[in-house]
Amino acid sequence: MLKPASDLRLHHRRVLVIDDSPAVCAALEVLFSLHGAEVLSAACPSEGLAVLQEQPVDLVIQDMNFRREATSGEEGVALFHEIRRVHPDLPIVLMTAWTHLETAVELVKAGAADYLAKPWDDARLLTTVSNLLDLRQARAQAAALRRERHEARAALERRFNLCGAVYESEAMHTLVSVATQVAHADVPVLITGPNGSGKEVLADIIQANSAVRAGPYVKVNLGALPGDLIEAELFGTEAGAFTGARARIGRFEAASGGTLFLDELGNLSAAGQAKLLRVLQTGQFERLGSNATRRAEVRLVAATNADLRGAIRAGTFREDLYYRLNVIELEVPPLAARAEDVLPLARHFLDERHSLSPAAEAALGRYPWPGNVRELRNVIRRACLLAESAEIGEAALNLPALEREPAEAPQPDRAAVESALARNEGNISRAARELGLSRQALYRRMEKLGLKTDT
Ligand SMILES: Nc1ncnc2c1ncn2[C@@H]1O[C@H](COP(=O)(O)OP(=O)(O)OP(=O)(O)O)[C@@H](O)[C@H]1O
Ligand SMILES: [Mg+2]
Repeated sequence: MLKPASDLRLHHRRVLVIDDSPAVCAALEVLFSLHGAEVLSAACPSEGLAVLQEQPVDLVIQDMNFRREATSGEEGVALFHEIRRVHPDLPIVLMTAWTHLETAVELVKAGAADYLAKPWDDARLLTTVSNLLDLRQARAQAAALRRERHEARAALERRFNLCGAVYESEAMHTLVSVATQVAHADVPVLITGPNGSGKEVLADIIQANSAVRAGPYVKVNLGALPGDLIEAELFGTEAGAFTGARARIGRFEAASGGTLFLDELGNLSAAGQAKLLRVLQTGQFERLGSNATRRAEVRLVAATNADLRGAIRAGTFREDLYYRLNVIELEVPPLAARAEDVLPLARHFLDERHSLSPAAEAALGRYPWPGNVRELRNVIRRACLLAESAEIGEAALNLPALEREPAEAPQPDRAAVESALARNEGNISRAARELGLSRQALYRRMEKLGLKTDT
């Protein structure tokens, strides 16, 4: 049954066995070294702790009693806690007699990786150990990646003003880096992305790091203005341009020497689009009701959650204007596409009196966030106001009962379905739960895969 030296997952991994029985140590040494692992052994807790102090170890297998007459398991409990204290992340597998399984279960709750009853089953022990080693490696890699990103962010933050943007995801890091790089150039930037995803935060970063950051920063929400007022708002009016009109400078003039942020660009009328195109091409415009041509020197940043390419096809947005504006296009992904940002943002929005329970954090991770970061901010603010205790639980978040888009749920393949069914002895409900599907969805999946559903 043993496949000598073939299990790559165990190759060059170092396993420490702490057991007073030389026979146990010898057996485990043969078992693991056949699979390419290096085995160290220690006959008592103090010797085991000394080994751990001297050299790096990937996993510990420990006994619960270390003297012939001892049966209480106390020594094993003390050893476990001592190893945990010094090595918080080291996987520890407990070997115990059947009579002491309760103690082992207690220790697993306290953070032991797993336990096996003596006499152990070789195949099961090997599987347990190699899974734990894989998990440890995956965690170490994830932690290294996170550290790298934190360093990259810190480096960016030393050079640029990131305007308090909070993120962990690679996607946002790339986006913010590009924003800081293009900030200095005098080219228009178009920011696209769904509602509440953080388009304005990116615009702020561009402004704050631009050559004109000392100049005015004018924001115009084109979606909030009635269509017939937009032109007057942008370009200004001459006294008497229309009944009751007073002379007024427009936002282009107000932003001269600085940055103009045009939000909700998709709402600009055909006439407004024509004028905007002209300013972009020539720098020239006129106030409403005036023939005097003026010049505007502004850095233009525009944002939209509309599908401008679709609007071009539909004939409601000018293609030439689109190409003028999107010299640089920054696309902010929806929050659901950058799951790593959810918890850092949630913690950022908490006030200093509240924290999130683990169940609440898990619920935030499952929710699909159709309203993106703004919705997350509102959920956390509301929970802080209404929470009855310092720790916000899942119920206090009051998240709407939304399911993730079905398209987003990965469809398990045949092997995944079969092994889930096998693990759950053919129990459809339990297998479905494990696969993250409803019972009906699993039935449909099984039918599609040609698996028998009449068990
Ligand atoms: N990365 C982030 N870090 C911190 N706060 C953020 C981040 N992204 C968004 N926010 C906050 O979330 C809210 C919504 O962001 P923002 O206004 O930039 O979104 P938007 O894409 O412009 O939305 P809309 O399409 O509705 O105009 C704001 O309060 C903003 O401060
Ligand atoms: Mg906005």
